Amino acid sequence: MFPNGSFEQGKPHPARVYDSLLGGKDNYPVDQAVAEGIAQRWPEIQRSAQQNRAWMARAVRHMVKEGGVTQFLDIGTGIPTRPNLHEIAQGMVPSARIVYVDNDPVVLRHAEALLTPISPEGRSTYLQADLRDPRAVLASPEVTETLDMTRPVGLVLAAILHFLDEDEDPAGVLRVLVDALPAGSYVALSHACGDADPVRAEEASAFYRQNKVSKPVVLRTQKQIEEFFTGLELLEPGVVPVDRWRPDASVSEGPDDMGFRGGLGLKHGTA
Ligand SMILES: C[S@@+](CC[C@H](N)C(=O)[O-])C[C@H]1O[C@@H](n2cnc3c(N)ncnc32)[C@H](O)[C@@H]1O
Repeated sequence: MFPNGSFEQGKPHPARVYDSLLGGKDNYPVDQAVAEGIAQRWPEIQRSAQQNRAWMARAVRHMVKEGGVTQFLDIGTGIPTRPNLHEIAQGMVPSARIVYVDNDPVVLRHAEALLTPISPEGRSTYLQADLRDPRAVLASPEVTETLDMTRPVGLVLAAILHFLDEDEDPAGVLRVLVDALPAGSYVALSHACGDADPVRAEEASAFYRQNKVSKPVVLRTQKQIEEFFTGLELLEPGVVPVDRWRPDASVSEGPDDMGFRGGLGLKHGTA
């Protein structure tokens, strides 16, 4: 896929830019330059990315503890960052099963760290696939052989839906995935939001666009993000800046404008 490795180092990749924002080591100067440029325009973005990971961990713990969920479909996984989802879930339920999905070959190269269960009973698999083709994700052997779709699943879409523009029908994509889940399943979803400071958010987004990291990031409003939960019970406290979502003792006080907002929805009714 990368004959001499030069291609992947010469061009910023979304997963590596995000890794750089998180303070990770799996990125190159070209990615760091973009991350720094975004942070200059939107200083809270680094804390926001870190708090997005922490939000994901709290949402997973909630799904396991309150919902008895032991299997997860995590689409838009990103470069492994501890704790990874399987480490959180298997730390609570050793037999937990996880399917990780990302379309960036950079993530595939790091997938081994995602596939090492922390318990002998646990299992995780990695699927190189695109969220924009949700039926292919659901029909893949990785999903059908790892997840039991008759039991509740935690669908995790953390900081990915803003890569889909309206023409790609993010709500329709989500509907296909949610329709495949049985009652008792959850959707944990976080998304870039510029409501608190649209001018700065747009500047950061434009910088990302100019550097051709990926397709443009689509900043959506609080209301638009809430609409993704249509048909689900949106659990308290609703869609909020990620550090305000059921914060625990580890969450320190931060600025109001966190950039990423997230929420957790519960599916009722029959499958
Ligand atoms: C900002 S990172 C989020 C990583 C992780 N979910 C988190 O919240 O910490 C977004 C990830 O989504 C992936 N991604 C973007 N568009 C995608 C698509 N259409 N299908 C699958 N993955 C996609 C990127 O490659 C990247 O790894």
